[in-house]
Amino acid sequence: MKKIVFKKKPIVCLTAYNKFYAELIDEYCDLILVGDSLSMAYYGYPSTRSITIQDMIKHGKSVRQGIKKSIMVVDMPYGSYITKKQALKNAKKIIKETKCDAVKLEGGTEIQDIIKNLVDNKINVMGHIGLLPQSVKRKKDYKVKGKNNKEIKIIIDDLKSIEMVGAFSIVLEAVNLNVANKVIKESKIPIIGIGASKNCDGQILVLEDMLGLFDKVPKFVKKYMNLRSQIKNAVQKYSNEVRIKKFPSSKNIYI
Ligand code: KIV
Repeated sequence: MKKIVFKKKPIVCLTAYNKFYAELIDEYCDLILVGDSLSMAYYGYPSTRSITIQDMIKHGKSVRQGIKKSIMVVDMPYGSYITKKQALKNAKKIIKETKCDAVKLEGGTEIQDIIKNLVDNKINVMGHIGLLPQSVKRKKDYKVKGKNNKEIKIIIDDLKSIEMVGAFSIVLEAVNLNVANKVIKESKIPIIGIGASKNCDGQILVLEDMLGLFDKVPKFVKKYMNLRSQIKNAVQKYSNEVRIKKFPSSKNIYI
């Protein structure tokens, strides 16, 4: 696999779950993640844990068709990297079938040997530290990390552990400013923030969140439009026009 090097900073990243969204965002992004947030933001499940390797591959294949230039990363889903052997087998399967450039795994010190084994096998790995959505079972358990010295030490140790074994970049999720700045200072590889700090080397958001598809989003999301109300308005208009027989008009039928 070709080693990933970012050409410019700040690094612009977003998620995509299918070809059409990937096509729309590719021009403006450096990295597109097929995130396992798919589970919640697309399928509406309560956590990211319900997504399988097959789901990630299906969506990854679709996203691949929409990307011309961005780096494509696919999340390894919950339970797919418990042992070194299983992680390698699954990562190879994801890469072979989706033709992605890298995989992302959540965790630090506890998965250091798993990441090392992937990197030793020439697989590009992105880390994910701070808040780890795969460790959260319910929405209400999403909480900012690094609130005390013990948590800060865990995050810095996680950074060091996975940087040391060759991850090319790390997502840092939901930590306070002080912790984010510590991580950025200590890190030799690019840190991509989500609810971290503007001092990160790049930023990532879930596309549907920043488009405003959902009412409730975490504090770190900025809604760049209100897709939810635009969809509702359009569908309401369509519904009215069907009921008053304004749609379809002569323009929309075959004469
Ligand atoms: O699954 C995902 O979309 C992610 C991003 C939020 C970083 O991991």
